[in-house]
Amino acid sequence: MNLEKILYKDELSKEEIIFLLNLSDERDLQKLFNRADEVRAKYCGDEVHLRGIIDFSNYCEQNCLYCGLRADNTKLQRYRMSPEEIIETAKQIINSGIFTIVLQSGEDNYYDTDLIAYIIYSIKQIADVAITLSLGERGFDEYQTWRIAGADRYLLKHETANPKLYSIYHLHQQLNERIAHLKFLKKLGYQVGSGNMIGLPMQTIEDIADDILLCKELDLDMAAFGPFIPSPFTPYRNKKPASVELTLKTMAVARIVLKSVHIPATTALATIDEDGRIKGLKAGANVVMPDFTPFPYREQYQIYANRKCMSDDPKSCRSCLQLQIESIGRKISTSRGDSLKMHLNS
Ligand code: 5AD
Ligand code: SF4
Repeated sequence: MNLEKILYKDELSKEEIIFLLNLSDERDLQKLFNRADEVRAKYCGDEVHLRGIIDFSNYCEQNCLYCGLRADNTKLQRYRMSPEEIIETAKQIINSGIFTIVLQSGEDNYYDTDLIAYIIYSIKQIADVAITLSLGERGFDEYQTWRIAGADRYLLKHETANPKLYSIYHLHQQLNERIAHLKFLKKLGYQVGSGNMIGLPMQTIEDIADDILLCKELDLDMAAFGPFIPSPFTPYRNKKPASVELTLKTMAVARIVLKSVHIPATTALATIDEDGRIKGLKAGANVVMPDFTPFPYREQYQIYANRKCMSDDPKSCRSCLQLQIESIGRKISTSRGDSLKMHLNS
């Protein structure tokens, strides 16, 4: 196969995606990342969108084999933030000039339909910010209520597009269920984000190609590709972490295939590589999601070990990111950073 030709094709076959994911020569990799950067510039411009995350509860009713928040992990100290604490944190995010607030938690039904709706509605009263929900799989009627209350986006990763592996990692959940949720969210008018984890036990390059193709089929507004990092007190605690290189390759190929989609440089990538954020932003990413969860909770949101920036003061986060982003000739967006497909939908 001819690398240059593939990099400039409009549509890529699964074989071509696998070919790109298997590149290993340093010069070839540079070509791949440069092409992804070019596609990112064309479809997203030079602005980097910041999304302020509030991890408001680390309770979870699920038992995903890879995740430190799984219900069976009795070693984790659990917390729930009150609605007042959540709304106060949202104010801090808005005051630091960030226009998307991500409300994230484990699957925690303690926060019922009305409580989440109240939090959404209250934040929307403060300013015209976008609200992203990342609460796992919830009821279809709940998604609808929250949309009416003002939620704009929903983030629900598919984690793996391989149905067999999906059933292994998530004993009581099925891939087709998850896909049905994603499709329903889209129907309700949410801007929808999904994505996978890279380097999960038993996962192959072919599976990752399928992940990218599933993101394409779902016509997502946002797609996140994060590295797996083994987490203590989980069945996968002794497994190997994902490689930085494979993570960057996946992001770059995803950018070339998906084109007008938001792709974050994840905190997980920044955790396994000191310069992970910058490398990600240069390999197709256009979004960064800083964590605004207040102390002491932020240290207890232990999806995996040694999460990046855990000891930083959330307030100093923006200036640190600004320095990093401007050092590579990019700038922080002053807009909400809505879907790049909005004009196509309306
Ligand atoms: N390593 C990296 N990411 C993880 N997630 C869960 N466990 C891990 C891990 N060990 C991610 C999943 C999930 C989100 C809560 O965090 O993608 O969607
Ligand atoms: Fe819960 Fe999500 Fe972790 Fe699974 S990945 S255990 S649903 S927080």
